[in-house]
Amino acid sequence: EKHNEKAARKEIESNSMFTKAIVRTPGRSLTSGLTAAKLGTPVYQKALEQHRQYIAALERCGLDVLILEADEAFPDSTFVEDVAIVTPKCAIITRPAAASRRGETAAMLPVLEDFYSYIEKIQPPGTLDGGDVMQVDQHFYIGLSSRTNRAGADQLIEILQRYGMTGSTVPVTEVLHLKTGVTQVAEKTLLAAGEFIASATFSDFRILPVPEEAKSGANCIRINGKLLLSTGFPEVSRQLVDQGAELIEVDISEYAKLDGGLTCLSLRF
Ligand code: GLY
Repeated sequence: EKHNEKAARKEIESNSMFTKAIVRTPGRSLTSGLTAAKLGTPVYQKALEQHRQYIAALERCGLDVLILEADEAFPDSTFVEDVAIVTPKCAIITRPAAASRRGETAAMLPVLEDFYSYIEKIQPPGTLDGGDVMQVDQHFYIGLSSRTNRAGADQLIEILQRYGMTGSTVPVTEVLHLKTGVTQVAEKTLLAAGEFIASATFSDFRILPVPEEAKSGANCIRINGKLLLSTGFPEVSRQLVDQGAELIEVDISEYAKLDGGLTCLSLRF
């Protein structure tokens, strides 16, 4: 029996309960990945070790982690979150805007076919990166960014509606992806930096503001009652512990050099 059929029978009461994750080992070509951060070039051996620690953190949250082989042809392919949206009812293969990333989706399709009976695809002229999609219960917030365009967002909303879910758009101007600057850390609670702190879109949520100097700390992952946070953000960490969060800190300094956050490095479902 396919995984999605089991998942579909469950209530989608929470979007933080998962059993599986997919990751891709970074290749040596990681050092030529896309970046706007001025933090230097990733050190490959260190990136590999951090990837192992990241996988261990996902396993501590109870996930079965499928580790895909490095794909040297695609320097950014370790950021698997961008190439698919995985929901309890279907998966959606995205259409990354960056030319060097467009081809990453081909290798993800057969992987997802092992888990999903229903797989949809974003079509031209739509572009969409998974990093721009934040799920809160049955609703998906979609960042309109330098990577995700209106056509891509509209297609995703139409697909979600067909499967009984909903979506809406949020402008993203200061950061690469929506989830670079805002992630859900508890029921009705978002950790938000920059433009998302006072965003009208999120006015019904409790907002935990991340100070400008710690903005890379806004990208957290909530999994099975635990919260993954990047190391190096003691203020954010304290704020989350005060909320009663069980934190697991993971050092992803080499991925931050490529504008990558914790969420970017896995698909969780
Ligand atoms: N380096 C991640 C991205 O730019 O897509």
